[in-house]
Amino acid sequence: MQTDITRQRAYFADAPGDVSLGAIDAARMPAHVSIIMDGNGRWAQARGLDRSSGHVAGVDSLKETVTASVRLGIDVLSAYAFSTENWKRPQHEVDLLMHLFATTLIEELPLFHQENVRLRFFGDLTALPRETFEVFQRGLDETKDNTGMTFALAVNYGARAEIARAARIIAERVRDGKLAVDDITPELMPRCLYTHGLPDPDLLIRTSGELRLSNYLLWQLAYTELYVTDTLWPDFDRWDLLRAIHSYQGRSRRFGGVAAR
Ligand code: FPP
Repeated sequence: MQTDITRQRAYFADAPGDVSLGAIDAARMPAHVSIIMDGNGRWAQARGLDRSSGHVAGVDSLKETVTASVRLGIDVLSAYAFSTENWKRPQHEVDLLMHLFATTLIEELPLFHQENVRLRFFGDLTALPRETFEVFQRGLDETKDNTGMTFALAVNYGARAEIARAARIIAERVRDGKLAVDDITPELMPRCLYTHGLPDPDLLIRTSGELRLSNYLLWQLAYTELYVTDTLWPDFDRWDLLRAIHSYQGRSRRFGGVAAR
């Protein structure tokens, strides 16, 4: 994706000692970066605050990551905001998160327009509170003609539910005579997933040091490079993103084959 080099340099000026824009190869930028944003609760607890304060602080990290990704020319940024299992959290935390999603998206619509960002969602949105659902619909409508980076939020998302949903879609097509059993291939599956039309993530970042996938994009992550940082999500910033991309660019991706000579 095209980037404005002047704005990019300005955004990544004042680099800390260990990483800088100069260390990044613009020709080998990951097309799709996905993030499991984790550690909001621990960040808040370490400060003697309510867990909700961690989520509120996490909004700023997400905003910075969206802008940084646009400046770097990333095509798709996706982030895991709420899983199908997160309904098990205390009701007041669920309510806070749903409200935060809605208010943040409304507040940030001008940013999305200014940065030419198109919104997408992964997950079953029909189960969301009406306020959140309506704001998401509005976000989709109002950004659908933007042609820059796609920013996808996974909300009420679970990979197992997504794969089961794809199996149902396929079974219905077979039942209705629209699809032959032999047409069920690895190439067909992605067209039945929430992520249809998007490339698989090249790089998955997980914050807070946890070494698991937590039911996130299980199909799509088959050949994704993983990067785990101990940084808690509310502390994650543009430099952490650069560190992750720098690590990614040092990898040899073979997709099951052998390295090119
Ligand atoms: C995981 O931290 C974080 C979440 C479940 C919510 C992510 C939400 C945000 C970053 C808020 C902003 C998002 C939008 C879309 C406006 P955790 O609570 O599991 O942390 P812990 O493991 O330390 O308890």
